[in-house]
Amino acid sequence: MRAPIAVLALAALLAACAGPAPRNLRYEPPDQPEAASGTIDKPGWTTRRTAVAAANPLATDAGHQVLRAGGSAVDAAIAVQMVLTLVEPQSSGIGGGAFLLHWDGRRVQAYDGRETAPAAADERLFLAADGRPMPFVEAVVGGRAVGVPGAVRMLELAHREHGRLPWATLFQPAIRLAEDGFPIGSRLHTLLKAEQHLRKDPVAAAYFYRADGEPHAVGTRLRNPQLAAVLRRIAADGSHALHEGDIAQAIVEKVRSHPTNPGRLTLADLAGYQPRKREALCTDWRAQERDWRVCGFPPPSSGGIAVGQILGMLAHTPATTLPLQDGLPSADWLHLYTEAARLAFADRAQYLGDPDFVQPPAGRWASLLDPAYLAQRASLIGPQSMKVAQPGQPGALRTSHAPMPDQPESGTSHISIVDADGNALALTTTIEDQFGARQMVRGFLLNNELTDFSFAPADAQGRPVANRVEPGKRPRSSMAPTLVFEQPSGRLAMSAGSPGGAWIIHYTAKTLVGVLQWGLTPQQAVGLPNFGSLNGPTLLEDKRFPASTLEALRARGAEVREQPLTSGLQAISRGQVNGEPVWLGGADPRREGVVLGD
Ligand code: GLY
Repeated sequence: MRAPIAVLALAALLAACAGPAPRNLRYEPPDQPEAASGTIDKPGWTTRRTAVAAANPLATDAGHQVLRAGGSAVDAAIAVQMVLTLVEPQSSGIGGGAFLLHWDGRRVQAYDGRETAPAAADERLFLAADGRPMPFVEAVVGGRAVGVPGAVRMLELAHREHGRLPWATLFQPAIRLAEDGFPIGSRLHTLLKAEQHLRKDPVAAAYFYRADGEPHAVGTRLRNPQLAAVLRRIAADGSHALHEGDIAQAIVEKVRSHPTNPGRLTLADLAGYQPRKREALCTDWRAQERDWRVCGFPPPSSGGIAVGQILGMLAHTPATTLPLQDGLPSADWLHLYTEAARLAFADRAQYLGDPDFVQPPAGRWASLLDPAYLAQRASLIGPQSMKVAQPGQPGALRTSHAPMPDQPESGTSHISIVDADGNALALTTTIEDQFGARQMVRGFLLNNELTDFSFAPADAQGRPVANRVEPGKRPRSSMAPTLVFEQPSGRLAMSAGSPGGAWIIHYTAKTLVGVLQWGLTPQQAVGLPNFGSLNGPTLLEDKRFPASTLEALRARGAEVREQPLTSGLQAISRGQVNGEPVWLGGADPRREGVVLGD
């Protein structure tokens, strides 16, 4: 369904609601219609000093109001995340984890709020009685896959270092919306209708569904006083309120008392959770005779390395000189891209895991991004598809690992923000599957992040999988919050990221190429059709490419399939209008996100 006028009106309404800049946050919810689900024509946005891009109009607006009240990018992100917990509960929230890449004008910092496995978890966590991996959905629903949530503690750490407004202030929008209610949008309604497992949790059923089992209608005002009470406690006492005391007790009880699929989480796991600060992984990339520095999130995410590898390999092929054809990536370009993707995904399956548990090749993750290594990998790309790539050998290894088998991944939400002082961030946040573990506690949903571990701990020869379950370990992620800098000036050029499980890597890489190589606006770039390969068939977004493209790729030996590829990209890039510097914002037409700024 296309609804350009509704979205344009929504953006204008939200901008008007925020009014002149106040000195303190006095949050007022906008009286706004919900954007439709399906594909939405969006205009793209142009702002001068600040920009907030998030997956839901109420969440974007909360961040915008925080910036107008003098908040920093991190302040705005906290307000956005708390509102997303309420209005986009299917994707992220205080029951999940997140990665934040932050630029303070001097340095890029990577804040890791990834969930951890309970101390009692072991590598057999997802094996059935016969020793074989459990069916995915059986593992997801219940307490088994719930990891220790990390998003709130990570945001608290980032706020200590980069916050400007008081922590408690940032919870105002979400508390107000949870108490007054928010109108259920089409996307949430559609997902609730299709959802099979959430209804089995009586607490979630009572909140999301009517007595007749149908989800509340679009536009129904949904109040969540329990979540408001939890947010008030976190606002007053910090992450402590979530990780210790009666809320932690309620989480543990929910996980451990699931009737068919209990988990092993304890109060000690929750109390002991620590966010980590890690080194961002940055690589140089040259396209269209311009130099960029692309900074991505390091392990436990595979996102930064895979995006960096794909771009790095493309730089050793003609791909960086190939233009769009009739507004679409050409078959020649798609061949080079998907071959680079196969090579990157082969390395991802072989090497990537929690850096506190897994030794990288040559003792450093940057070995996977070494230009000489990527040149050697790119030399494997020929005129015919390799169909399935083998991992490379970027350096000596302490352990010989088995590659991780393919597993489903999904869910997630992305936030990009720039503030008036030049701070910027890319924050990707998740409860993993849609509606996570389908377990609701005190008004929020618990994650199923542990299913991002390999269910199989080893291969048939007994070689361990790097991303197997271990106590206290963080599951491998695909989240790819990305910040790009112009070279040699070092000025911030772009912030981008997406939900979509392993496809996050392709959605994000597409957007970077769209803006940096093809000179598109962020809106045009996120709107490009999606494509990629997870080291198997070439997948193209359903009915978005001409038959001639599919035929040309098949002629090169690739198995080509079409299917929906529902990215949820948000991106902001530096631009110019009439010689004046501006921020250009884009939000994925496949979802409900908008961009706002001054
Ligand atoms: N659960 C999605 C991701 O971390 O990639």
